[in-house]
Amino acid sequence: MNSIILITGILISVNSGLSSNILAFLPSKARSHYGAFEPLLKELAVKGHNVTVLSPFSMKNPPSSYHHIQVEDEDLAMSFNPFSVAKHFKPILVPFRSWFMWPKFTETILNKPSVQKLIHSEGLHFDLVLFENFYHECFVTLGHKFNASVVQLFPSIPNAGVAQWHRNPYDGSYIPDINTGFCDNMSFIERLTNTVLSFIHIALSSFFYFPKQRDLMDKYFNYTGWETRPSMESMLKNISLTLINTHFSVGTPRPLVPSYIDVAGMHLKPASTLPEDLLDIMNNAPEGVVFFSFGSILKLTQLPKNEFDIFIRQLGKIKQKVLFKWESDTKIDFPPNIIVRKWFPQADILGHPNCVLFITHGGIHSTEEAIYFGVPMLAISVFGDQLHNSLVMQNRGAAIRIKYSEFTENEFQIALYKMLNDKSFKTKAAELSLTFHDQPLKSLNKAIYWIEYVIHHNGAHHLKTAAGELTWYEFLLIDGLFLVVIMRIIITIILWYVGKKLWRRFCCLKSKQI
Ligand SMILES: *[C@@H]1O[C@H](CO)[C@@H](O)[C@H](O)[C@H]1NC(C)=O
Ligand SMILES: *[C@@H]1O[C@H](CO)[C@@H](O)[C@H](O)[C@H]1NC(C)=O
Ligand SMILES: *[C@@H]1O[C@H](CO)[C@@H](O)[C@H](O)[C@H]1NC(C)=O
Ligand SMILES: *[C@@H]1O[C@H](CO)[C@@H](O)[C@H](O)[C@H]1NC(C)=O
Ligand SMILES: *[C@@H]1O[C@H](CO)[C@@H](O)[C@H](O)[C@H]1NC(C)=O
Repeated sequence: MNSIILITGILISVNSGLSSNILAFLPSKARSHYGAFEPLLKELAVKGHNVTVLSPFSMKNPPSSYHHIQVEDEDLAMSFNPFSVAKHFKPILVPFRSWFMWPKFTETILNKPSVQKLIHSEGLHFDLVLFENFYHECFVTLGHKFNASVVQLFPSIPNAGVAQWHRNPYDGSYIPDINTGFCDNMSFIERLTNTVLSFIHIALSSFFYFPKQRDLMDKYFNYTGWETRPSMESMLKNISLTLINTHFSVGTPRPLVPSYIDVAGMHLKPASTLPEDLLDIMNNAPEGVVFFSFGSILKLTQLPKNEFDIFIRQLGKIKQKVLFKWESDTKIDFPPNIIVRKWFPQADILGHPNCVLFITHGGIHSTEEAIYFGVPMLAISVFGDQLHNSLVMQNRGAAIRIKYSEFTENEFQIALYKMLNDKSFKTKAAELSLTFHDQPLKSLNKAIYWIEYVIHHNGAHHLKTAAGELTWYEFLLIDGLFLVVIMRIIITIILWYVGKKLWRRFCCLKSKQI
């Protein structure tokens, strides 16, 4: 009887969780970003929300309340070879390159017919708009178009330029900008670089970057009623919730304002059984298996032959079997312990107990998977957040990082043997995995909880700190500092003046006495 009441109660409470109309505006062609959000979009639909997703990628077997708007495909392939620019990679220059490059991508996206159709649609109703803000600030105006609350999805850790709108802390002394490739214990020069970078993101972006986003917004988001829209800045400040792809066991510990929720690795789930042939390889490797993959963005076919040969030569000498992801059709003779394929089920391989080492570029998803399954990493990091992610792992004893720009055969060989022979890397990786798993809510459930929270509380604007209302000089207490300096000057002048008077009188008295 009790259980019947309980079950009825649960059913009622499930049904009373009102279903909402949710728009996910993800028109950019970044497969790894979409892959990280897809489980969230699916789960929202499974929970009964009416989810409309605008994306170049479609979901396999979507739930019935999931609607996909196909964005016309176009290859936005990287026009440069990341391996050749790695050597010239300077953290300080990253923002300038991004400000130049990304608005062009954004404009290409905004020109797509499906995107324009949605922007100028009439009669659609949404309670909530999700958008990915990876240099796409102008998308925030969809919240105004649909009179809906806005949730911002961030594929990695926001830099100071993004964090400034909600005044999420970005102190240069201990919060590394991921593009610097630094960890949280920085040397003097590193702290200086990091702080200058934050300054560039905040002070210079308003001259060199935000005007471009404003122009894009004015040009492409001229929907009926756009005239009443607030400034882009106030719409960005008005964002209800920001979901960021980090966690203190993945990145460096950092404070977050209440509207910033860390949801690292929403895509992670326990490993599935491998296909038979791979399972056979994994199970019949008495010394274990090394998995080698540089992810989906870096193509090993672009790797210079010299470095490629180093990998093959060194990996061919070890006792372990090596699963090697290589996208080329070229036939070359690999050593017998190296099994080459264009694609591997990465997570399921890392989740197999016989996987002893992951040789990776250190991208955020690969790093999260390595942590989730407790596999040590040998990271050859090329650019972007790879240098940061892998340095964090190295400082925790679960990885060795080699900067691609400083890569040598000798260094690779030493690191490889060290990692295969020293058990401490595995121990640290396993400890890290425990801290990642020990969370009150799984990342995916946490994200769903907070999104529904925003819906239930009409945008949950009470989560915002008062800092958002302050001007920059109030926020940095420059006005207070100014007052203190003025007071000191006034007091100094008074003291000097009074001192002079007293001195004169004292002197005069003395001279009169004489
Ligand atoms: C769900 O969203 C679609 C737009 O993708 C809309 O046409 C449909 O009317 C919505 N359904 C409900 C029940 O609101
Ligand atoms: C926008 O939504 C709010 C409730 O969230 C409502 O009070 C307001 O009337 C709506 N504005 C328009 C123009 O529909
Ligand atoms: C802020 O968002 C709410 C919805 O959550 C909306 O009603 C309001 O108009 C927005 N204000 C600004 C300044 O964008
Ligand atoms: C940061 O800490 C790690 C390990 O704790 C150490 O190896 C590294 O040298 C430190 N870096 C700096 C810049 O102090
Ligand atoms: C929006 O702007 C484009 C040009 O940028 C123009 O062709 C179009 O007619 C405008 N649409 C509306 C509804 O004003």
